[in-house]
Amino acid sequence: MKIAVKLNGRNREWEAAPGATLLSVLRDGPQEPRMTSVKRGCETGDCGACTVLLDGQPVNSCVVAAARAHGHAVTTIEGLLGDPLMTMLQAALVEHAAVQCGYCSPGMLVSLYHLLRECRAAGTTPDDHAIREALTGNLCRCTGYVKPVAAAAAVAAALAAMRSTEAGAR
Ligand code: FES
Ligand code: FES
Repeated sequence: MKIAVKLNGRNREWEAAPGATLLSVLRDGPQEPRMTSVKRGCETGDCGACTVLLDGQPVNSCVVAAARAHGHAVTTIEGLLGDPLMTMLQAALVEHAAVQCGYCSPGMLVSLYHLLRECRAAGTTPDDHAIREALTGNLCRCTGYVKPVAAAAAVAAALAAMRSTEAGAR
């Protein structure tokens, strides 16, 4: 079946087997380039390694039918590279030693990006509780959550500082 999507801002047409998941089409093709940032973990919707944005909302792509993406926008880490907020998050994860094997990192980054983008749009700053909530669907077997939460909190604080500087300049 043919599936028309906007993948990372570009119109694409996928050829997918009926019943194929969004994860399998993104990661395994047959179309190129393959989105290898999207990781295959549990394939039951429990680990978050396969998290992508579907129309701006985080979803576990292993439990979303590829056909569901027809006519919609799909965003993966590949499409967010160079985005200033994503760059801040990536740097913060590294600075806080929040990456060990890194298998969970793309999914975590998508979840944190979504949280911080929403908060930025609302002019709010997420607390640790909100950050932990955003990460509840992202399992990490090696680093745990203390360091990723600290990294996201640092980015949230930096965004708040930028907001108050901008407000002061007005
Ligand atoms: S691979 Fe999709 S949630 Fe685990
Ligand atoms: S860093 Fe290895 S699973 Fe999270």
